[in-house]
Amino acid sequence: MPPGLEILHATEDVRRRVAGWRADGLSVGLVPTMGAIHDGHLALVREAAAGSDRVVASLFVNPKQFAPGEDFSAYPRDEVGDAALIASAGGDLLFAPPGETVYPEGFSTAVSVGALSEGLCGAFRPGHFEGVATVVAKLLNMVRPDAAWFGEKDFQQLQVIRRLARDLDLGVAVHGVPTVREADGLALSSRNAYLSAEEREAAPALHRALVALAERAVAPGADLARAIGEAERSILAAGFQRVDYVAVVDRETLRPADPPIGEEARALAAAWLGKARLIDNVAVPPRGP
Ligand code: PAF
Repeated sequence: MPPGLEILHATEDVRRRVAGWRADGLSVGLVPTMGAIHDGHLALVREAAAGSDRVVASLFVNPKQFAPGEDFSAYPRDEVGDAALIASAGGDLLFAPPGETVYPEGFSTAVSVGALSEGLCGAFRPGHFEGVATVVAKLLNMVRPDAAWFGEKDFQQLQVIRRLARDLDLGVAVHGVPTVREADGLALSSRNAYLSAEEREAAPALHRALVALAERAVAPGADLARAIGEAERSILAAGFQRVDYVAVVDRETLRPADPPIGEEARALAAAWLGKARLIDNVAVPPRGP
């Protein structure tokens, strides 16, 4: 076990530890992960450590958020390596529940967050956000933190989870953390590991297309449909095989934004490059990551 990091697998153990911290007046932050830890996750752990006295990271590859035929079995798994990285960023506890603890025999509850889950990635990954909302609700109940941290890279997921926490009065503050990028703009993602060297070269085109779109969208007299079409074409021209969507949406409702486009909007895209389905999003107008 890495120095300073405790690893627990049983819900009663994690609850006892968290209850003890809270009894001592310490606040507790949770960073839910599916492992395959990279610098994007570590930014979440660091933010959680800055915003709370103790940090729990969870590690659970959630079968319910993968549709049949998606990469659930191929998803990289390395508990020991992940634990070392989480410890290095200031994590105090790694909670790695076994599948039968999260979904015991007879488990039959699903949490569905309605309209926010339906468009964008929801339209291409049926059941995905229901799987995410169900496991996040479960993890929050298992760990009982004061706050939880999620990446803006999965912008739709972040908005779904914010809605979930509000609607169900979960009593947990949900924080978003800006996307961490490679020097060439590619958003860090566990799925970048699926890219060949040639695909890795092409991959930053997704971010470039979104930045250009976000700039065009706010220009006076912008033709949004045309700007979206140009973004799609530039992604395909870079070598992506398929674009699932390019969209400019209201960042709260995730419904298509109406011109004139302003700061309430977000530009998002998902596209296939070889075996990897890459997603990304930027603020409108583009600023920071
Ligand atoms: O973003 C992820 O890694 C997952 O969707 C999450 C939030 C850990 C739920 O399984």
